[in-house]
Amino acid sequence: MTEPCRLVVLLSGSGSNLQAFIDEIAAGALPARIAGVISNRADALGLERAARAGIATAVIDHKRFDSREAFDTALLAQVEAFAPDLVILAGFMRILTPVFVRPLAGRLLNIHPSLLPLYPGLNTHQRALDAGDAAAGATVHFVTEELDGGPSIVQARVDVVPGDSAATLAARVLEQEHRIYPLAARWFAQGRLQLRDHRAMLDNEPLPATGYLYGDGPPC
Ligand code: GRF
Repeated sequence: MTEPCRLVVLLSGSGSNLQAFIDEIAAGALPARIAGVISNRADALGLERAARAGIATAVIDHKRFDSREAFDTALLAQVEAFAPDLVILAGFMRILTPVFVRPLAGRLLNIHPSLLPLYPGLNTHQRALDAGDAAAGATVHFVTEELDGGPSIVQARVDVVPGDSAATLAARVLEQEHRIYPLAARWFAQGRLQLRDHRAMLDNEPLPATGYLYGDGPPC
């Protein structure tokens, strides 16, 4: 029997995406195990979720380091200590340098709460509302050295409705995040998803530039 895919999850806050992974694994829908959860904040609720699920945790406080590179070196060492097949950024609120990103190329994923390439960076939902967009959403992508810029894997769209605030929109997008992030990890765990020549490949076919549109029929 082959070993399940080993995941390491990095987070800074609530960890609702971590919870989605925990729940999908428990339900038998994701052939993986979470080897460890790492936070840069000791007070992250996500660490409590991990502990409740019996998952090892570690805290690396970025404030203890003089530079991003020094933090990234320590972070990488902790990640590698958990020997992951795949590293999941789930609300990890630090900008990562090539020191961290390069050694993990092709096995580092992020979820961003916008329809990338729209709105990299922060305040994505307010920016979508301010622009009068008809839809918002979230994107799972491979992480490269460009902030929120790596090849997209899967994207979920959510209609903007009259009266939406950034908070109401964020809540509906988050529900979709909890579906598409474990889905992308499942594809990886099944050996179906790869980063090749700066393209995200699923079943040896390049995915569209914005990723697979969730809910758009096969492939699943
Ligand atoms: C999510 O909206 C994710 O897209 C963004 O940070 C948030 C994390 O939420 N990168 P949670 O900590 O998983 O609840």
